[in-house]
Amino acid sequence: MICDSVMTTIKKTIPLLEASGVAITEHFYRRLFDHHPELQHIFNMSNQQSGRQQLALFSAIAAYANNIDNLQALSAAVERIANKHSTLNIQQDHYDIVGHHLIETLRETAGSAFTDEVEHAWRIAYGVLAKIFVDRENTIYDRNESEPGGWKGPRLFRLIEKRIESAFVKSLVFEPSDKQPILAYKPGQYIGIRVTPPQHDFDEIRQYSLSSAPNGETYQISVKREIEGRPGLVSNFLHDGLRLGDEVELFAPAGNFFLNDKVAPVVLISAGVGLTPMTSMLDVLAARRHSASISFLHACKNSAQHSFRKHIHRYVNVDKHTWYADEKVNATGYYHGHMDLCAIENKLPLDNGEFYMCGPIPFMQYVKQQLLTLGVRTDRIHYEVFGPHDDL
Ligand SMILES: Cc1cc2nc3c(=O)[nH]c(=O)nc-3n(C[C@H](O)[C@H](O)[C@H](O)COP(=O)(O)OP(=O)(O)OC[C@H]3O[C@@H](n4cnc5c(N)ncnc54)[C@H](O)[C@@H]3O)c2cc1C
Ligand code: HEM
Repeated sequence: MICDSVMTTIKKTIPLLEASGVAITEHFYRRLFDHHPELQHIFNMSNQQSGRQQLALFSAIAAYANNIDNLQALSAAVERIANKHSTLNIQQDHYDIVGHHLIETLRETAGSAFTDEVEHAWRIAYGVLAKIFVDRENTIYDRNESEPGGWKGPRLFRLIEKRIESAFVKSLVFEPSDKQPILAYKPGQYIGIRVTPPQHDFDEIRQYSLSSAPNGETYQISVKREIEGRPGLVSNFLHDGLRLGDEVELFAPAGNFFLNDKVAPVVLISAGVGLTPMTSMLDVLAARRHSASISFLHACKNSAQHSFRKHIHRYVNVDKHTWYADEKVNATGYYHGHMDLCAIENKLPLDNGEFYMCGPIPFMQYVKQQLLTLGVRTDRIHYEVFGPHDDL
């Protein structure tokens, strides 16, 4: 699809990209929002402030340039990004805008290195990448619309229940305002939610993992109130501002982190609010009467911040282990300090288990390292990042 001379030119510009680093993407986003302020309805401007989204986009472009002759290597990343884009309702027109500002950014930042040949190569290469995403995203949109309970774009849902799960986490249950059926989802997947917090100029879209088994009628999410630094915009609004009966817009469930169908031992590992996809997986495994062993490993600060404790303890056949960083509990299965897998090594299906993880990135890096040291194969370790993706 991409001819050799274009590939060679793209490869030649990699040092240029790497030398400018995120400066290119910062310039790009400034330019994009100056010309298209309406796109602030789609992007999470807090991620822009913290620089996390710039890094994610830069890494994706650098990975693309590096793999221009082997696009197959990008398929997992394309799948992850396309799924996330689908919960943001990204459309073909958006790709045209982004493509234009990418080229103009290269022109403005690369100086004399931005020759006609470089411009031609990047136009072709961006077009190919954009087509890969647009095709995949259209397939996701069409499938979401055609399946039972499905829909395209935003759909109105009403908040029908709010429940306290722990000191900082509340569950919210939504039913469709049209009371029609809703799409099923795979445990581990998330929805996109669009709200406009009061006194805020832009809509805000966030993703939240579905935290219970699918039931065809309602969606449940469980949200941690973000209070460190500047209070999180959407999480605090969902906790305090949104009342029973209020409506929000939801985008159909998506995500490439979900429970697979293998009849193998399953280990669900989480920290803090990262337990939401695990709770959904656990509910589904129990409903399926999973015939292999199930372990639920969770770490949090203390008992006050331990979400879903009662719910999870209902499952008597699940091997449960909990670590509190700041509290000692004198009970079987409770430990003080950080998650230490060596302490329970003989209870873990190290040879044939499927390991699912979710929590802060440093936590997942720490646990993954322990799993690898204990001999678990990388392809049996699956994880989700609650923010712009990062490799562990
Ligand atoms: C796939 C996926 C699944 C998720 N599932 C869940 C879930 O099940 N439960 C859950 O609670 N969350 C989940 N999240 C995270 C969720 O989407 C939100 O990111 C989270 O709720 C914070 O959103 P917010 O609007 O409250 O915070 P934001 O306003 O987006 O702020 C995020 C952080 O940035 C900081 N910040 C904001 N503005 C600035 C600034 N100007 N300078 C520096 N720092 C700033 C804030 O202090 C805050 O800590 C998930 C995310 C993804 C991607
Ligand atoms: C080929 C072009 C594109 C590439 C390579 C790309 C890449 C990425 C990557 C790597 C992420 C992070 C994904 C993750 O966390 O797992 C992301 C998220 C996102 N993308 Fe794209 N993207 C492209 C096009 C677009 C377009 C056209 C839009 C819309 C104008 C868009 C809007 C977003 C938004 C809103 C997010 C969520 C993060 C946030 O809000 O801060 N992207 N994209």
